[in-house]
Amino acid sequence: MNIRAATKEDFPAILAIQGENAKAAHWVQQDYEKLAESGGGLLLVAEADAPASPKVIGFAALDRVIDEAELKNLAVATAHQHQGVGQALLREALARLRQAATQRVYLEVRPSNIFAVQLYASLGFVIHSRRKGYYSQPAEDAFVMALELSPQLAEKQP
Ligand SMILES: CC(C)(COP(=O)(O)OP(=O)(O)OC[C@H]1O[C@@H](n2cnc3c(N)ncnc32)[C@H](O)[C@@H]1OP(=O)(O)O)[C@@H](O)C(=O)NCCC(=O)NCCS
Repeated sequence: MNIRAATKEDFPAILAIQGENAKAAHWVQQDYEKLAESGGGLLLVAEADAPASPKVIGFAALDRVIDEAELKNLAVATAHQHQGVGQALLREALARLRQAATQRVYLEVRPSNIFAVQLYASLGFVIHSRRKGYYSQPAEDAFVMALELSPQLAEKQP
């Protein structure tokens, strides 16, 4: 598997993967274009090694403002879930954020999205707070999860 920065040719694949996953944030192409073009935006895609169609099998979208970043979206094609793709995307994103001197990363997740919560916890994210009524359709609170990326901790973290 190869993780790389997305290009505009990847937008159709990103939108298709997003469309397969009801729990992903649902953005329009312009949202991804804006993020990819912004100074602190980080849009990564995972590509399958073997010749496969489609080749892009997952993506992660993050936004960094000075020393804080937020995971805005993450999804893996349903046929490729539970094979380490999500974890690989996040590890690469965190490595790039560390290089950019990011101190902490936040994200929101539905408490019912147990796989996602477990994935984030396996990378060192902890539950920071709970946002009442954050999600709609269906209504649910959000866990705000946070990861400190201080240099001292960086060596111990995956
Ligand atoms: C959440 C999501 C991105 C995870 O990606 P993935 O490639 O399937 O996850 P990985 O294979 O990298 O799994 C990483 C960790 O997640 C957890 N996990 C994933 N699948 C799991 C399963 N079936 N059972 C238990 N834990 C699971 C585990 O902690 C796992 O670590 P491990 O393999 O060492 O046990 C993916 O399932 C997805 O696209 N879901 C729909 C969209 C979504 O929910 N996005 C997040 C919005 S906040």
